[in-house]
Amino acid sequence: MHVLVTGAAGMVGRKLTERLAREGQVAGRSISRLTLTDVVPPSLSPALPPELAGRVEARTEDFADPATAAALIAPRPDLIFHLAAIISGEAERDFDKGYRVNLDGTRALLEAIRHEGGRAYVPKLVFTTSSGVFGAPYPTAIPDEFHVTPLTSYGTQKAIGELLLADYARRGFLDGVGIRFPSIVVRPGKPNASAGGFFSGIIREPLQGVEALLPVADDTLFTHASPRSAVGFLIHAAGLTREALGPRINLSMPGVCVTVGEQIEALRRVAGDKAVKLIRRAPDKTVTDIVAGWPARFDTARATALGFRAERDFDEIIRVHIEDDLGGRLPN
Ligand SMILES: NC(=O)c1ccc[n+]([C@@H]2O[C@H](COP(=O)([O-])OP(=O)(O)OC[C@H]3O[C@@H](n4cnc5c(N)ncnc54)[C@H](O)[C@@H]3O)[C@@H](O)[C@H]2O)c1
Repeated sequence: MHVLVTGAAGMVGRKLTERLAREGQVAGRSISRLTLTDVVPPSLSPALPPELAGRVEARTEDFADPATAAALIAPRPDLIFHLAAIISGEAERDFDKGYRVNLDGTRALLEAIRHEGGRAYVPKLVFTTSSGVFGAPYPTAIPDEFHVTPLTSYGTQKAIGELLLADYARRGFLDGVGIRFPSIVVRPGKPNASAGGFFSGIIREPLQGVEALLPVADDTLFTHASPRSAVGFLIHAAGLTREALGPRINLSMPGVCVTVGEQIEALRRVAGDKAVKLIRRAPDKTVTDIVAGWPARFDTARATALGFRAERDFDEIIRVHIEDDLGGRLPN
């Protein structure tokens, strides 16, 4: 089958394409063609299986341009992972850009699918959405049925994307599933500008022998899953049937719900006191207020019943980072 990945150069996109290329199959079918697209050049896995050689195309372009969206859909990809997005902090700072990419771009992709053939062409579309679709006040654990009242532009754009996906699926234009990620940690590479970047930073930096600032209190609660789990969610979603999913196609994914203090104790167990000593508390009221408004705990019974799995504890999330991003060893 032909698989298209938007946002293929992003954190999850890179790991997803690596796994697709490594396994050469998804949802029980072998991959005959893989199209990767992003505004920054997507990189190809060096270890492409021979059957995929020459069948991977990496495109550098703005998918949100309707002509580009139509060109991406014209070859009729069977399975589309739609990951391209402007993240929350940037969507809040740049109103126009957030709406253009996260809303208009998603709609352009959906419209390109609709115009490509309606019922004659009905691809599977796995859309990455976010717990940011929810807004305070929250129950102790937020169920899938909790009303969608986002408190950010990013959450609003993702919430509209969920509704569009559900309507286009209901009308038979596509077979869709919306995967609401929890916080995906540990994000490899350089720190990003996200207000929640410290959730990764307080693990990633100390593991590299570098100081990390902690802007919030130790009792700050949040739900996390690893990038490996994020990829697992997307691959599992690609194989779900419409019958299994039912009409409510947007789902919160499972994760490990811990306080920052529990994250730090997990780091101590995995990497010792030396690493923990590199975390410096630097309270920041702006970040604290932003994070206090984010949903912390989810009731993911539906996703769990459908077979989605995350790590069991935060120690495992740290070990996944060491295995997948640090070559399996702690740097000296
Ligand atoms: N990482 C998380 O914690 C998290 C949590 C909830 C939801 N999500 C969602 O999961 C998806 C993947 O997240 P990620 O962490 O890999 O994000 P990321 O920012 O690392 O990757 C997103 C990619 O989209 C690309 N992109 C942006 N605008 C584009 C455009 N106009 N055309 C083509 N490409 C464009 C970017 O260049 C980037 O490579 C996103 O949709 C994000 O909103 C992520």
